[in-house]
Amino acid sequence: MLILSAVLFSCTPRTPMDLLKESIIPKPASVTATNSSFVLSEKTAIYYQQSSEDLSFSGQYLADILNPSTGFNIRAEATGQNPGKGSIYLTLSDDKSELEKEGYELTITEDLITITAQNPAGIFYGIQTLRQLLPAKIESSSVQEGPWLIATGSIIDKPEYEYRGAMLDVSRHFFKAEDVKQFIDMLAAFKLNALHLHLSDDQGWRIEIKSWPNLTTHGGSTKVDGGEGGFYTQEQYKDIVKYAKERFIIIIPEIDMPGHTNAALASYAELNCDGKARELYTGIEVGFSTLCTDSEITYQFIDDVVRELAELNPGPYIHIGGDESHVTPMEDYIPFINRVQKIVTKYDKKVLGWDEIAHASLEPNATVQYWSKAENATKAVEQGAKVLMSPATKTYLDMQYDSTTRWGQHWAAYIEVDAAYSWDPASLVPGIGKDNILGVESALWTETITNLDELEYMVFPRIVGHAEIGWTKASDRNWDEYKVRLGNQSKRFKAMRINYYPSKLVPWK
Ligand code: ACM
Repeated sequence: MLILSAVLFSCTPRTPMDLLKESIIPKPASVTATNSSFVLSEKTAIYYQQSSEDLSFSGQYLADILNPSTGFNIRAEATGQNPGKGSIYLTLSDDKSELEKEGYELTITEDLITITAQNPAGIFYGIQTLRQLLPAKIESSSVQEGPWLIATGSIIDKPEYEYRGAMLDVSRHFFKAEDVKQFIDMLAAFKLNALHLHLSDDQGWRIEIKSWPNLTTHGGSTKVDGGEGGFYTQEQYKDIVKYAKERFIIIIPEIDMPGHTNAALASYAELNCDGKARELYTGIEVGFSTLCTDSEITYQFIDDVVRELAELNPGPYIHIGGDESHVTPMEDYIPFINRVQKIVTKYDKKVLGWDEIAHASLEPNATVQYWSKAENATKAVEQGAKVLMSPATKTYLDMQYDSTTRWGQHWAAYIEVDAAYSWDPASLVPGIGKDNILGVESALWTETITNLDELEYMVFPRIVGHAEIGWTKASDRNWDEYKVRLGNQSKRFKAMRINYYPSKLVPWK
């Protein structure tokens, strides 16, 4: 019987499917359809090439996506040979230089799915695309009915920008390590590769610094509107970094200074020019706090913090904030930022800072995050720095969709899903072109956002559009075409249990 059914099965004509009709986000660089299908079955196995670069995590990651919903027991195994019919094969190749650092080629025939890349990151992104080619219910955590068909053809794909990020403010409201990991998984699904954690602000200090323990025991004890705050121990933080790294996401730690420092100023009296510790702060005003910029203890403090952070972080950047230091006179702000940049480079990290830091003399490897003032971004480029694009009017995810949005604010703009999508980083600021831009980052400030459900509502679906802006060529992007692909994600978002905002501008299916 088994043999007979296997023979019958293999003779069954395949269901015709059109790869060009699939709704993939971010939109790939090139898609060729061959109009048949691959059937994912209990006999499918994942093989990854035995190589110097370890693909075992990605192989198992794919199996862990496929098994709960199919009910299959698909295994991921290393192999030195070409795998047989019905397999999914992950393989690295040196002669695919056109794929660059993060690109991949995904080839689907009736018999075999192959993901080829130069680097493991490309394999991981090929997996994310493959995931979207399966029915949405593949994302379900319980067993669903098949069939599990995948359209045949090939996809050759790579990103436009090397940095595709999200920022999460864990200071105004704290998000536990488990929530951050869930957020990381959502980012990975759309090929984002950077998570910037805003670890300190007036309302809370969220990363354990062993040489200055009061920062967290006192400075991390509360949050906006009061109540219990929280912080990451260094062990928890390292665990987040590792979890992100496995998913090809770097963590960018931000310690905001010299302003936005009330939590530190409340924890250590000596950081204040008058030597008096401040009260903890649970409001949402900005621009009232400053480190004492002409006191040596301030720089000893920053050196200790940066040293400990550099040890915790394999990623290349440390973000020094620098925004809205309204009570730090410019003649103090500039030498402060110059000196802090030297501390960051001393620990072999690159400087990131909000656009105001362009008033200072930027280090050669500094990147300026444009959020507010185009003239600051221009100043940065004139100094030879790269710009990370986070215009508040397009990428601030705490901005309300419209006047009826329950959470968020609107001091920069109301940002509907079309406005978040319909802009091009390389033509936003005159004189700042693609070569000057490191990438795009969406930012979620959390004055009004208190938990993961609220986070998801503000982040989705706008961040999906930002992910496409970072990945897909501007000439391949257009709202009317994108909104249809986005509308086709509703079942997928639901299966992923993402609490997205069902904008009326999107034809949800
Ligand atoms: C900022 O929104 N203050 C960077």
